Amino acid sequence: MKLKDRLQTIFQGKIDTELLEKLPAGYSVIGDIAIFHHVDESLSKYKELLGDIIIDIDSQINVVVEQLNTVTPHRKPIISHIAGEPRTSTVHREYKTEFQIDVAEITLSPGNKGERKRLIQEVEDNEILCDMFACIGNLSLPVVVNKPTVIAYGIEWNQVAFNFLETNVKANKVEKRYYPIYGDNRKKTPVNFATRVLMGYFDSDEEQLKCGLEAIKGEGWIHYHSLSPRDNLNQPKKYIDRIRKRLDYDIEIKNIRKIKKYSPKNYHLCTDLYVTK
Ligand SMILES: C[S@@+](CC[C@H](N)C(=O)[O-])C[C@H]1O[C@@H](n2cnc3c(N)ncnc32)[C@H](O)[C@@H]1O
Repeated sequence: MKLKDRLQTIFQGKIDTELLEKLPAGYSVIGDIAIFHHVDESLSKYKELLGDIIIDIDSQINVVVEQLNTVTPHRKPIISHIAGEPRTSTVHREYKTEFQIDVAEITLSPGNKGERKRLIQEVEDNEILCDMFACIGNLSLPVVVNKPTVIAYGIEWNQVAFNFLETNVKANKVEKRYYPIYGDNRKKTPVNFATRVLMGYFDSDEEQLKCGLEAIKGEGWIHYHSLSPRDNLNQPKKYIDRIRKRLDYDIEIKNIRKIKKYSPKNYHLCTDLYVTK
């Protein structure tokens, strides 16, 4: 049964009939924490009851929170506790990878799970990855954990995320193959070393794309993430075409993929570029 139908059955008789329609249709799960992304204001006084019900019906959940917003560029979420144990830290496990995370500090998008899987499948033996927006290892750590000959360098400028990245590298016992680098990727991205560059951040600029290109040794992939209006999915192509003219690299657009619906107007896209120097 869908969550909303189930909640409507449980709440029947407990709240006004017109509020039944406003009950949430789903939540994200990070470790043992359920995250609601928006609970309708009209349900404010029933939030705790809602949270308690989720803990009752979902055996993996011990904490329920609401995420009100994220603040760029560090993407710190604004979290309000709804029910369960008074904590926001948890351990999330995905693709044999352990992520220690505080959901009040860091976001880990379940909508990017498919991309994490795709990378594990696509990266070949002995590759060297450069994750320019590493966060807590979201995209690159599962690849290193699942591919024993792959090496990664993950750059992160948010101290809180960086601390979790270091912790997670140790927790997954990949210290000899995953090297966290603290700082602004515009200054800290090493050059001429990578087979594949991950640019998993929507607001990257031209200087950062240039750093990504310089990180590639000889030839290799750049996975460039962006937000594009649903009626203009060609936007990354126009951007790359513009940049290509100013740079002395052969940049081929191999694919523009939809990762997820981001908002009513925008898609999260990933453009796969193959670069030859
Ligand atoms: C959206 S998160 C990464 C999410 C991850 N790639 C994924 O797909 O789940 C973006 C991360 O990039 C970091 N970041 C943003 N600008 C940066 C910069 N100039 N240098 C290093 N890290 C940066 C942020 O602190 C944040 O942790």
